[in-house]
Amino acid sequence: MFDLKNNQNSNQTPKNNEDYKIKDNLKDESRRNLLKNTAYATAGVGAVCALLPFIDSMNPSKDVQALASVEVDISNIKVGEEKKVMWRGKPIFIKRRTPQEIDDAKKVELSELKDPQNDSDRVKAGKEEWLVTIGICTHLGCVPIGGQGEYKGWFCPCHGSQYDTSARIRKGPAPKNLEIPPYEFLNDKTIKIG
Ligand code: FES
Repeated sequence: MFDLKNNQNSNQTPKNNEDYKIKDNLKDESRRNLLKNTAYATAGVGAVCALLPFIDSMNPSKDVQALASVEVDISNIKVGEEKKVMWRGKPIFIKRRTPQEIDDAKKVELSELKDPQNDSDRVKAGKEEWLVTIGICTHLGCVPIGGQGEYKGWFCPCHGSQYDTSARIRKGPAPKNLEIPPYEFLNDKTIKIG
């Protein structure tokens, strides 16, 4: 009798019809296993390939990545001037402050402020001349006007909130200072917002 335990790879020669039948069955079984494994492997590769466009679609597009940060040339902003740019759909104020405006911001006591924050915590060290803020009033979202109001910072025409030269809320219904966006100086002439 053909030795089943030694399986189809055995060199044992079948001796009768029964032995041949057993050997053929083993070959069929082996072929079935091979086909099954190949099918599983192909299905696995297919599933990964099918997923790739989906995974890729979850990454932000190049347009979105470009909007995520904005590089701004600040070399043409004169002392005392402000430049407005858009970042992620929000207005950004880039103010080049005068020495007087910096002094005015620095001498304010924290106890005078509704949203206490030192001027030095709102600018980059060594770059006190530059104040970069999100130009959205923290009351109900209007865009304040620069260089106006009692504190010569920003004035919101909607309900009269007044911000100082560090864009901190000083009067009116707004509860918070103008927000500082994430930004960095790439060099003396360029800042990157976002
Ligand atoms: S939205 Fe600015 S004061 Fe109301």
